[in-house]
Amino acid sequence: RRRTAILISGRGSNMAALLAAAADPAYPAEIALVLANKPAAGGLARAAEAGIPTAVVESRAFGRDRAGFEMAMEAELAKHGVELIALAGFMRVLTEGFVGRWAGRMINIHPSLLPAFPGVDTHARALAAGVRFHGCTVHLVTPGVDEGPIIAQAAIPVLADDTEDSLGARVLEQEHALYPAALALVAGGRVRVEGDRAVIERPAPPSGVAL
Ligand code: GAR
Repeated sequence: RRRTAILISGRGSNMAALLAAAADPAYPAEIALVLANKPAAGGLARAAEAGIPTAVVESRAFGRDRAGFEMAMEAELAKHGVELIALAGFMRVLTEGFVGRWAGRMINIHPSLLPAFPGVDTHARALAAGVRFHGCTVHLVTPGVDEGPIIAQAAIPVLADDTEDSLGARVLEQEHALYPAALALVAGGRVRVEGDRAVIERPAPPSGVAL
């Protein structure tokens, strides 16, 4: 099982969905660490309750020293033997150096159908744009914010009477199903990058079997 860190800044509902999936010993990732950049992140208590090691590297304490903040995170990741990173509501932009070191081994969940609506306030922007479908995306992290190769998406219709909250709640429900499925693909070695795209490999059939 690939040792995975979940990085959070807040309530950690996606983190909880990943912890629940990884509680199954057959799941290809094990959660080795939950790391928050804010001591008040609600997800920390939830992870600790589940018996998962937690750490806080407070981004505020580093001010503008982003490299210093990231080196402190690297120390925690190394201490826990982390091989993969899943960003789950982690609201700090990472430097090219950090992203480069974790290339192909770090994924993010974003609450829109990328490449539409990168950045913040995605549900309000989707409503304002009048799109008929909205959803969420899991992608590999590259230096451009919300730009990396797409691994998986879930789409839902936008309803005529949707508000930012009602739409966001339905997208979040999809996120909780999508993220564990996408992490399983990455941890299972099923994701290959071809140029700007991610391609999902089918598992090889048992020998002697043609599908
Ligand atoms: C989720 O909706 C996630 O997609 C979003 O923050 C929320 C975190 O909720 N992430 C981003 O906007 C990243 N750019 P959670 O803490 O309950 O998982």
